[in-house]
Amino acid sequence: MANVAIMGFGTVGSGVAEVLRMNGESIARKLGEPLRLQYILDVRDLSATEYAGVAVKDFSVLESDPNLDVVVESIGGAKVALDFTRRALLAGKHVVTSNKELVAAHGKELLAIAREKNVNYLFEASVGGGIPVLRPLFQCLAGNQIEEVVGILNGTTNYILTRMVKGGVPFGEALQEAQAKGYAEQNPAADVEGLDAGRKICILSDLAWGKEVRPEAISIRGISDLDLEDVAVADRAGYRVKLLGRALRLPGGRQAAYVSPHLVPADCPVAPVDDVFNAIMVRGNAVGDVMFYGRGAGDLPTASAVVGDVLDALQHRDQRRDLGWSESADLADLETEVSMPWYLRGGFEAPADCRTLSGGAVIAPAMTGREARALAGRLGAKALLPVLE
Ligand code: HSE
Repeated sequence: MANVAIMGFGTVGSGVAEVLRMNGESIARKLGEPLRLQYILDVRDLSATEYAGVAVKDFSVLESDPNLDVVVESIGGAKVALDFTRRALLAGKHVVTSNKELVAAHGKELLAIAREKNVNYLFEASVGGGIPVLRPLFQCLAGNQIEEVVGILNGTTNYILTRMVKGGVPFGEALQEAQAKGYAEQNPAADVEGLDAGRKICILSDLAWGKEVRPEAISIRGISDLDLEDVAVADRAGYRVKLLGRALRLPGGRQAAYVSPHLVPADCPVAPVDDVFNAIMVRGNAVGDVMFYGRGAGDLPTASAVVGDVLDALQHRDQRRDLGWSESADLADLETEVSMPWYLRGGFEAPADCRTLSGGAVIAPAMTGREARALAGRLGAKALLPVLE
């Protein structure tokens, strides 16, 4: 018998309990022993629920129980969750999480503690919800030099964009729908302003190149200043507007990472990815392009990835998974060292080297952000967005 505890009984925590209940038999078969939900730690009163018998409010009960094997941290945030994760690892428990804020900000330290205590700290659910992407990236693609990772990393904003564009639903209403479906963060500004996608592209970058990229060190632009006119103009010209996180390895080994709405050509595999779905494209120097696709948020999809990690942690009890990242990445200056084509709109005369779109917009050839901003200033452009090549 293996024992698991859930810390934080919100969307993800309750999804994990549901998956353990729904799939208990097949999980036990795969594990070779039953997996028992031993504790649920939450500040809320669960006495009127079916989980009354396992509900606890005191973390030290988990910390001091020698029979507890794995702790699922689904508290969220980087305060209490950080303290409890540290203490659980130091107490020799494996910890599994969906908490991208914590992994992006403190993953290096927590992985070092896990290494020291010979336990697993796993976080597949922190990027892409139910999509298996982190394990394929550090395991199946380990033979490659990763060149680029780019994708739709936030289900809430993709859902909002889809509802606005295809359903004609106003922004506020689409956000409320995403909240009701359990996709949005407690403070949905983290979704809308791109911070959530920023944390996820940092985790992908950390694992792709083994060096820490901190969320506060990268450029992040969300969808709050996106003009629907640009979405319409882009659509007529054969592009979709998607919020993308992107991480690149530049010639010479320096790295760049950022989040921004992009124009994506309609024939690019991420263009038709709608609603809560996420898609992450990885380019390796041996494999070429690979794409991972699935539900990027929601209780059961996220719980699917969490429970997969719980099994993996238990199957690697003695020989822990060796993953992690070390010193800070050498980040290139995004504004001056990374070139890409740009979309500009504003009813100006199109420069000769630009492609004209209907609706008073153009696509300018690849140039740096600084050059694009200078061009937009000279032309008096009302909108400027990068274009994914
Ligand atoms: N708020 C996140 C999203 C949840 O919408 O993608 C999953 O990380």
